[in-house]
Amino acid sequence: MKSTGGKLYMKGLILSGGKGTRLRPITFTQAKQLVPVANKPVLFYGIEALKEAGIKDIGIVVGETKEEIKKAAGDGRRWGVRLTYIEQEAPLGLAHAVLVAEDFLGKTPFVMYLGDNILKSGIHSLVEKFQIYRPNALILLTEVPHPERFGVAELENGRVVRLVEKPRQPRSNLALVGVYMFDHHIFEAARAIKPSWRNELEITDAIQYLVDHGYQVQPHIVSGWWKDTGKIEDVLEANRLILESIEGRIEGEVDVESRLNGQVVLEKGARVIRSVVRGPAIIGEKTEIIDSYIGPFTSIQANCRVIKTEIEHSIMLEGSQIIDIGGRIDESLIGREVRIYQGQAKPRVYRFVLGEKSEVGLK
Ligand code: G1P
Repeated sequence: MKSTGGKLYMKGLILSGGKGTRLRPITFTQAKQLVPVANKPVLFYGIEALKEAGIKDIGIVVGETKEEIKKAAGDGRRWGVRLTYIEQEAPLGLAHAVLVAEDFLGKTPFVMYLGDNILKSGIHSLVEKFQIYRPNALILLTEVPHPERFGVAELENGRVVRLVEKPRQPRSNLALVGVYMFDHHIFEAARAIKPSWRNELEITDAIQYLVDHGYQVQPHIVSGWWKDTGKIEDVLEANRLILESIEGRIEGEVDVESRLNGQVVLEKGARVIRSVVRGPAIIGEKTEIIDSYIGPFTSIQANCRVIKTEIEHSIMLEGSQIIDIGGRIDESLIGREVRIYQGQAKPRVYRFVLGEKSEVGLK
């Protein structure tokens, strides 16, 4: 086994296939791993976490949205890592993705990171733990209020005894976090298991195989927050959690009639005119905020226009406009190039042009 300075050499594997059906309509036109959280694609948090843990050789398993993901992340040079794209012809499960990546991984132990997960405290110390103890697998667990939505682990005296994917009646509230560390025995496990009811080769079942066959599966309880950004409310929550620790930076323009409070990031070319921005908030390049109120936990991407509008706890994607709609927008995820405005024509009616799975909540 290759080693660097005595340390166990490890590769990274980011899973970025998946269709993101629970994030529609946003994911009709955009990969779920590229949905921005605090104006940065979710996927980039994973790449950065691996890099920070000293892992520089990273495979990204991609599916239907591969071109978009390649275009966004490139060859990895920007982070000082090497990215290799690995195609998965259909989303047949996380354990299937591991098998697809077998040529890339070989016998090297690796960290598998689900491309829509964010962990506050990163993974550095966990990678170190794996490198020191060298179990066959290390899994991350955390207590959640709805374990039935995740893979669930049962421990006995600190040892993993059972893992069940999305059980109807969970026997613990310990969910499997989407970051795993494995040695090459995981291939044997992934080959041995059968597809689940959702017709996927579940990584949860593969880990159960390791447990059943006497391999060492070490659990680690995550203490900081963790978010799987699979659903709209999770994306908004992740946005809130990330913004909580941003530091303000003003590179755009603020007129004398405006006020910025708390931590606000204003990117180059952004303009705030006769408005109040209450951080934490981030406003992207060339976005204009005019006669408006931007409240806490709001991320607005580049080239947006917000005029005579109040908005908070929300995400607005590139090129969108909201103009004078009256009332405050809250907990919303507004897609790219969306226009919301108040028309002047009579009669005063609502006029919608909405795509499939759009959602509009009126007072
Ligand atoms: C997957 C895993 C599940 C894990 C979750 C974490 O679920 O199958 O065990 O708890 O990721 O994000 P999925 O996102 O495929 O529903």
